[in-house]
Amino acid sequence: MCGIVGYVGPQSALDVVTAGLKRLEYRGYDSAGVAVQADGGLATAKRAGKLVNLEKELSERPLPTGTTGIGHTRWATHGGPTDANAHPHMDNAGRVAVVHNGIIENFAALREELTERGHELASETDTEVVAHLLAEEYSACADLAEAMRLVCRRLEGAFTLVAVHADEPDVVVGARRNSPLVAGVGQGESFLASDVAAFIAHTREAIELGQDQVVELRRDAVTVTDFDGAPADVREYHVDWDASAAEKGGYASFMLKEIAEQPKAVADTLLGRIDGSGSLMLDEVRIPANVLREVDKVVIVACGTAFHAGLIAKYAIEHWTRVPCEVELASEFRYRDPILDQQTLVVAISQSGETMDTLMAVRHAREQGAKVLAICNTNGSTIPRESDAVLYTHAGPEVAVASTKAFLTQLVACYLVALYLGQVRGTKYADEIRAVVRDLASVSGAVERVLETMEPVRQLARSLAGKDTVLFLGRHVGHPVALEGALKLKELAYMHAEGFAAGELKHGPIALIEDDLPVVVVVPSPRGRSVLHDKIVSNIQEIRARGARTIVVAEEGDDAVVPYADHLIRVPVTPTLLQPLVATVPLQVFACELATARGNEVDQPRNLAKSVTVE
Ligand code: F6R
Repeated sequence: MCGIVGYVGPQSALDVVTAGLKRLEYRGYDSAGVAVQADGGLATAKRAGKLVNLEKELSERPLPTGTTGIGHTRWATHGGPTDANAHPHMDNAGRVAVVHNGIIENFAALREELTERGHELASETDTEVVAHLLAEEYSACADLAEAMRLVCRRLEGAFTLVAVHADEPDVVVGARRNSPLVAGVGQGESFLASDVAAFIAHTREAIELGQDQVVELRRDAVTVTDFDGAPADVREYHVDWDASAAEKGGYASFMLKEIAEQPKAVADTLLGRIDGSGSLMLDEVRIPANVLREVDKVVIVACGTAFHAGLIAKYAIEHWTRVPCEVELASEFRYRDPILDQQTLVVAISQSGETMDTLMAVRHAREQGAKVLAICNTNGSTIPRESDAVLYTHAGPEVAVASTKAFLTQLVACYLVALYLGQVRGTKYADEIRAVVRDLASVSGAVERVLETMEPVRQLARSLAGKDTVLFLGRHVGHPVALEGALKLKELAYMHAEGFAAGELKHGPIALIEDDLPVVVVVPSPRGRSVLHDKIVSNIQEIRARGARTIVVAEEGDDAVVPYADHLIRVPVTPTLLQPLVATVPLQVFACELATARGNEVDQPRNLAKSVTVE
């Protein structure tokens, strides 16, 4: 949420910062702005709307050249997406410029205080108070990093702040509390950003900033302290992907690219986690086996798509380990006073590792004595750092706002955790584990085959572009798949889409069925749990009898569904529990194509942002 970039070095700060903002635009695209140090002062430009509006402004009214600057792409919280509310914000003298991600909870009191002291605030934002407070502190101490520390001690809430001062050339100062910020170390140049993607084209050497830290950036030095000025411990790391991974690579959108990357993402997430004999090696999960043996309950916390991965994981965990598993929306978790103790294993699933709701759930769980295992895609992000252990998914950077490859890899990681629990607790024999691992290893190829057969799905999606509603039905693990299919369609196509457990249909939702209403039905395998299959075939007949247009996702060779399918989408044969890995893919393609046919920008759906760092 909100993308932030800071730069100091020999290059044009404007070029570096705007290129960085382009890579961070997925974090928010309500408005954008920049500030550069030039001619002994600060020059700024900002515009409501997407980054192109700012670029147009900059081409019409170029800023003077400078080599130190900051930039911001906004997801509005306080104040609407207007030019005035866009960042950077400045003090009345125009000597300090600040960009901000997060929410300053005590801003109203601070604003009142500033107004009483004669400051004039021009925007409705919480950020502007920081610019004024920084200016006041700076006039007393003439040191921007110290001024930042003094201001941060007065702020409540979550924030990443990055600032420049006209009187401190070649210096950018940042601060973070509960909101992401990472530094990049180049040759004679330094960077700050919400995400390494912003500077990956310049350096892959990064410094992870911790909670309540202030960083001072100079061309050849990055100095980190806590809010009291004491030197802080930091973790330096090398980013293991390069700029091309964060580019579209010839695809029309990041979403299409990320859908296409799924076979590799799935295979990469298994890499190094299975030994030559097919047994699991999850040594990276540093929770000792004896602790895992004592676990008497698993609670999964996550949001959105990651929550759907959790719903699927529940089936695998309970089936393979016989340990009860609850799945909870992270935003609801701590408010209902959940029952947790040392024998509870909390699994927090998050692509970004920064989702505030999930982070708060993690903190609450640990306060209650539970062990927390994070499943996360972003190295060095806050959730894994605050968890007892982490299993990283290896999806690579996910840029499109709608999650695709991260979801599939979250599922793989969840299956691995479930099997690992089964392994250490002895509820699964080694040969059973090896058999599932073999099935998992073949999923990458299966996803590839699904992707090769998507043209009819794309055609179907285009033909439905004028519809208002699409329903999704599933049973067992197909139910969360239906929920995920509906979420993708809602967020991308802005259509009414709902997912239901097929068995619930006659308890209400069947009243929605009308003539030619498209209903996607995710059909479980007829092998194994054939009772589920037979029941859903009955459900398809029930809705078809009432006029629904049935779009049936069924495995190859399942002939029983053929008479009742107006459209049939085939997926490869997989074991029942693993079917979501293949069944979700056509629903992603469907949503992406339908949204495109409706003229929507799939990478940046309206009102959304990736990485939701506010509660
Ligand atoms: C939907 C989507 C969101 C995220 C949710 C959690 O396509 O992307 O629902 O899944 O905001 O985000 P993470 O996984 O970063 O915690």
